[in-house]
Formats: sequence, structure tokens, C-alpha cells
Amino acid sequence: MSSLPHISVMPEETLACFKDIEIKTFYEGTVGAGGHAQLLLEAHPEIALYIACDRDKSALQIAKERLLPWKNKLAWVHGSFADIPEQLKKNKAPSLDGCFFDLGVSSMQLDLAERGFSFMHEGPLDMRMDPTDPRDTAADIVNTWSEKELETLFRTYEERHPRRAAKAICMARTKKKFKTTKDLADVLAKSLKSSGRRHPATLVFQALRIHVNGELEAIQEGIAGAMDFLKPGGRLGVITFHSLEDRIVKNLFRDAARAKTLRLLTKKPMEPTLKEKRTNPRARSAKMRTVEKL
Ligand SMILES: C[S@@+](CC[C@H](N)C(=O)[O-])C[C@H]1O[C@@H](n2cnc3c(N)ncnc32)[C@H](O)[C@@H]1O
Repeated sequence: MSSLPHISVMPEETLACFKDIEIKTFYEGTVGAGGHAQLLLEAHPEIALYIACDRDKSALQIAKERLLPWKNKLAWVHGSFADIPEQLKKNKAPSLDGCFFDLGVSSMQLDLAERGFSFMHEGPLDMRMDPTDPRDTAADIVNTWSEKELETLFRTYEERHPRRAAKAICMARTKKKFKTTKDLADVLAKSLKSSGRRHPATLVFQALRIHVNGELEAIQEGIAGAMDFLKPGGRLGVITFHSLEDRIVKNLFRDAARAKTLRLLTKKPMEPTLKEKRTNPRARSAKMRTVEKL
């Protein structure tokens, strides 16, 4: 099981986003271990329906145990938040007072070797957040894509040496197909230099994870859907961990603000305090943007 509990990022800023509004119906697209959900349910006893979505069944299981005291208010959704319109319809929630997304992966996912997300733990090279999803695994990609396709993928997700990484992968797989996270981490460690404190495999692993799970497409659809369903005065908060995620959110919010369908509560994204960054390394790259529906 997981070695480290997941520490929720920017807890105070999350509560501040929904302070002073009355919430009856709330949607969380990334409930994970239920940390933010617990904070919000404690701070807003008026919540009547809390729809908690995650595409990872094992995360839902952890959240269910943690949120037992609120079980009568909770509706659980196993799926991608990209499908928010259908999920709200199914739960008879025509509109929302509040909505929240804390994107990316959880510590439980990174720490469980068999999920294949991490170069720190040897496991099958999988990386699907929903292991029942028929989409290609990271192993499928590194074993079958052409060198050019891999290079383009790594460049898109800002690996500093995309060509070198793609070449090393294609050379290595002629001898032995990639099966485990260690197989890939070892090849990358030999061919790429580490930059600062970061393991040389960090950005290639991140690129594969984001692609395997179609994360950027889901963000575009999920956030746009959430904005549509917010009631006037309803609030939406999003925490991102990658510049490409933040760019999508920033552009969606900017366009809606120009169209006067919502108001930006944060002109610039908020960042965790230095204290939080020091105590929770996962928080270092976090950015939070919040909006209010007009
Ligand atoms: C950073 S964790 C959330 C942690 C949570 N806020 C907490 O405090 O415990 C992100 C979660 O989002 C889930 N996730 C990522 N993309 C998703 C998507 N498109 N649809 C549903 N869940 C998603 C992951 O499976 C993971 O459990």
C-alpha cells in the first residue's frame, strides 16, 4: 500500500476561494485522498450534495473511508472530469455553487510501484490513472513509437534534450523491450544529465504520464464544462502543477472574463507560501487560479 499519505496542497487558499459563499451543490473533479474535500465539508456544513470524482478507483476507496462522516452528502463518480456534463446529469445536479480541481497525480499514485508512475520505484511501466482504461500504457509508447514521434512528445512537454532521450530509448529497445520503470529510468540516467536536484528521467516520465492519460485534453473539457454549470456567484478553483496545465486554465478564464461570463478573482496565479513549499515538496510547482461566475 502507499508509503506516504497525500498532503493536500494550498489548503488555506482553497478555503479562501469559497469563503463567504453559501454552497449547496459542489463538484470536485480530483478528489484523490479526500483532503480538500474534508476541509471544504468541514468549513461548509450547508453543503447538501458533494459530487466527488476521480478516475482512480483506489483513490476513491481511500476518500470514501476518510469522508465517512459526510457519507449522506457524497455522490461518488469513477471517471474523468472531462465528462462533467453527464456526471452532473446523472446526479441530478443542474447547476453548481462551487467547483474545484487539484490536477495531476497524488502521492499515493507516485508511491505505489505497481502503478508505474515513478522512476523511484520499480514497477510495470504503466502510468494509467485508471488501470481499467483501455488506453496505451507508457510501455506501449516507448516500445512502439518512432524516434521522431518520441522526440516530438518529449519536446512538447519541455524535456531539455528531447532528441537525445528519444534516440537513447530507440537504441535500447533494439536489445530489450521496456517493461519496467527502472528499465526506462536507467536508460535515461545514462543518456541525460541531471539538472540540479532533478533526476534526469523526471521530465520524460512526466511527458509520458500526461500523454498516457490525455491530461491536457481532459483539463480543457473539464474546466470548460465546470464553467458552464456554475450558478451566478458560484466559484471555481483550479490548482495546476505544470506550465502547460496552467496555460490552458489561464486562457479559458481569460476568454470567459472577456466575454463577461465570469470574473477573475486572481489576476495572477497564487502560489504556496514559502513555508508550504519547504514542508511539502509537491507544492513547489503549484499555482492556483480562481474565478466567480457572473
Ligand atoms: C493531486 S491528486 C488530488 C488530491 C486531493 N485534492 C487531496 O487533497 O487528497 C489528483 C487526483 O486527480 C485524479 N485525476 C487526474 N486527472 C483526472 C481526470 N481527468 N478525471 C478524474 N480524476 C483525475 C488523479 O487520479 C488523482 O487522484
